[in-house]
Amino acid sequence: ACPSRTAAPQMNGTSQPPQQQPQHTPAKKTPRDFIFGKVIGEGSFSTVYIAKDIHNRKELAIKVCDKRHILREHKEEYIKREKDVLNIVSNSGAPFFVKLFATFQDATRLYFVLTYAKHGELLPHINRVGSFDMACSRFYAAEILVALEHLKRLNIVHRDLKPENILLDENMHILITDFGSSKIMTNENDTNDEDDRSRARKNSFVGTAQYVSPELLTAKTASTSSDLWALGCIIYQMVSGLPPFRSGSEFLIFKQIMNLNYEFPDGFCPIAKDLIEKLLVLEPYQRLGATDEVGYPSIRQHNFFQGIDFETLQNQTPPLIY
Ligand code: ADE
Repeated sequence: ACPSRTAAPQMNGTSQPPQQQPQHTPAKKTPRDFIFGKVIGEGSFSTVYIAKDIHNRKELAIKVCDKRHILREHKEEYIKREKDVLNIVSNSGAPFFVKLFATFQDATRLYFVLTYAKHGELLPHINRVGSFDMACSRFYAAEILVALEHLKRLNIVHRDLKPENILLDENMHILITDFGSSKIMTNENDTNDEDDRSRARKNSFVGTAQYVSPELLTAKTASTSSDLWALGCIIYQMVSGLPPFRSGSEFLIFKQIMNLNYEFPDGFCPIAKDLIEKLLVLEPYQRLGATDEVGYPSIRQHNFFQGIDFETLQNQTPPLIY
């Protein structure tokens, strides 16, 4: 049993500082604490289930990873990174991220107990309506920007930001998920240790072809502004319906990215176009916001965000997607 849960309180009649009260650490959860429902997501070595906590009937999402598969594919580091980052983000109190409530394991699997995002991924919402109107695009871009400000403050680069990893909660606010490709930046200015770069080279690349930044393709180094590139791609996709770089093969998409080879369709909102052109810049440090010291004030101040109150986004009713 956990000794801290059974330790008796210390008597303290002297001038000694009082002993700490016994900590009531919650017992490690097990799969039997939950009723597992249907599959709501599938990754390359994980499956996400909707689940119910049997103690309070709360709906949750549980990501289940197969240990053998992780070992076979040498993904131990990625799983550990994901858990570490989810813990950092969850404990920071930042809004707009799924929360990690518990982790546990059995003989064959690892379990991550996460916030259940009732309205699923952002991608099918974009696809259902074709494209977002300006009010919608602006609102969701603003929530993503605030989330990226929190990640920057926490020295975390997501590195795989895309509309599949942006979930929507019961009130249609965003919850960013999937930190399996993320990076904790230990020293200012940069970037990735050689370990990470060589691993990246062997695995060909980190992230998803359409949203990956040029520096992740060439130098295999990421900074917080790699997520700003993805933000540019996502704003383009919300406004027009499709991501800016698209092609039949991953190789051709990479070539388009490296050559900044993309176009705006006729009628594309010129203010949105101006912002996207300032984010989709090959040199990471020349992207809008890249040299901002705290947060991304230079992006907040862009005309595209005119009328947005960034401080109260979480309490606003999101514009309807239709
Ligand atoms: N799909 C993947 N993760 C999810 C989550 N936390 N909530 C809802 N759908 C998901």
